[in-house]
Parts: sequence; C-alpha cells; structure tokens
Amino acid sequence: MKILIINGPNLNLLGIREKSIYGDQSFDDYFKALQEAYPEIELQYFQSNHEGALIDEIHDKGFTVDGIVLNAGAYTHTSIALGDAIRAVKSPVIEVHISNVHTREEYRHHSMISAACRGVIAGFGMDSYRLAIEALINKK
Ligand code: DQA
Repeated sequence: MKILIINGPNLNLLGIREKSIYGDQSFDDYFKALQEAYPEIELQYFQSNHEGALIDEIHDKGFTVDGIVLNAGAYTHTSIALGDAIRAVKSPVIEVHISNVHTREEYRHHSMISAACRGVIAGFGMDSYRLAIEALINKK
C-alpha cells in the first residue's frame, strides 16, 4: 500500500512554529516514527509553501497512490483550486489538521476542501496524521 502525506504552507516549520498550538516535534522526526510504525506501507512525504506545487503533486501522485493525507495549512480555508485538484484525481484524500480548527479563529472554521475529501481529522496533534492513515488502511 502506498500513502502520500502532503503538508502545505508553514508546516515545514513544525517544531519551531507556534509550539503551544502545533507542538515541539519536527515533521521529519514524526515521519521517521510513522515509517517505523508502518513498515508494510510505502509512506511518501511532500511539503510545499506554494499552492501550485501542492496541486502539481496531487495531480502527479493522485492516480497511483492508495491514499493521500493532506494538511493544506491555511490554503484549506481559501483554495478552491486545491478542492478542484482533489476532485480531479482518483486516490482518496483525507484532510487533516493538527489543531482543532473549530476552537480557533472563525476564518479557520470553513474548509474549501472538506467536501472533496473522504473525511476530515482535526485536533489530535501530530496523531491526526496516524489516524488518517488508519482510516485509509481500514477502508482498503
Ligand atoms: C492547520 C490549521 C490551519 O488553520 C493553519 O493555517 C495551519 C495548520 C493545522 O494543522 O492545525 O497552518 O492546518
């Protein structure tokens, strides 16, 4: 099974950025732990701060991987284009957020991508990514 994790803008700074919200672990460290926890899954990782690069990656991998775990960061709340990209590909996409966006500013309460995704997981810290992987495994 192949699963691609995509992180959007500012998520390259996990472990440094707003630690009280996002924790103090870097994504590289978390990704290594995930790979150890799921040796049977081919886990791939892509991060970009650029909307078009995220769309290109969804187009490139979205017909071959078994699932995409997508934390689109702030583009979640603004990007019609990302929603369209998710609808355009075959692989199921799970939207994830580290924080519970519904307890935060009102502009984070709306997602432009949720309706295109298989499901949404938010608010479990870094564990949100693992929960999304479990959801993809269980639906296979
Ligand atoms: C986030 C929530 C977004 O609102 C925010 O812009 C992020 C991270 C999260 O993982 O909690 O960059 O997607």
